[in-house]
Amino acid sequence: MNAVEIKDLYKSYEDGKIKALNGINLTIAEGEFVSIIGPSGSGKSTLLNMLGALDVADSGSITVAGQDLNSGKKLNEFRAQKIGFIFQLHNLIPNVSVRENIEIPMYTQGLSSKDMKNRALKLLDDVGLKDKADMLPNKLSGGERQRVAIARALANEPSIILADEPTGSLDSKTSTKILRQLIDLHKDKNVTLIIVTHDMDVARLADRVIEVLDGEIISADEESLIHSKIDV
Ligand SMILES: Nc1ncnc2c1ncn2[C@@H]1O[C@H](COP(=O)(O)OP(=O)(O)OP(=O)(O)O)[C@@H](O)[C@H]1O
Ligand SMILES: [Mg+2]
Repeated sequence: MNAVEIKDLYKSYEDGKIKALNGINLTIAEGEFVSIIGPSGSGKSTLLNMLGALDVADSGSITVAGQDLNSGKKLNEFRAQKIGFIFQLHNLIPNVSVRENIEIPMYTQGLSSKDMKNRALKLLDDVGLKDKADMLPNKLSGGERQRVAIARALANEPSIILADEPTGSLDSKTSTKILRQLIDLHKDKNVTLIIVTHDMDVARLADRVIEVLDGEIISADEESLIHSKIDV
């Protein structure tokens, strides 16, 4: 099964004045690691929002993890169980602790509170923030909040991770660590990893680089990048 199948997808804003997606056709295999590059305003985040069923297209078809996103069915459940989001704005809930932020997605899973707590602490340990578990998010640095968002995205062991500039605000050492964690998940658990990035060193780590310009995919070039692939 493919993780993603998109056919002729169009999305506009402001009554059609802004054409964010202009006929996207894209297939991503299950377990593939794909990076999406392109200039600011080219439609990368819009595409990611569509993949996560956070917004609805004007026309075209989109199937993610076997679910037709135009069917309007059970999209909340689909999102919580299949998708891990790591977005540009991390959207942590300000008035609950870091640990509870990570537990929130787990509520759809029917776990005991002890299991949720242990899983959250393990995830925080993985991103190097176990000692911050009881703090409120606004006491953390931007990079630390991003790491919490990453831990939260992994809470339900999603089959697809959508990441919008996941390491944009991190120093290079932390960024490498986070990327390695995401890539390990992709390799060990066959998680499909879709990362939007401005950083070519990050983009090149993927199995495939997709370039978006003016709402269209202009290249999905494997050959030219394969030679410059670096190891994390
Ligand atoms: N909610 C919205 N309402 C109106 N216009 C929007 C909205 N979201 C995005 N756009 C517009 O759609 C186009 C694509 O935006 P998008 O956020 O997908 O770009 P991007 O490639 O992610 O850019 P960046 O690299 O700066 O994050 C832009 O022209 C943007 O201004
Ligand atoms: Mg964006």
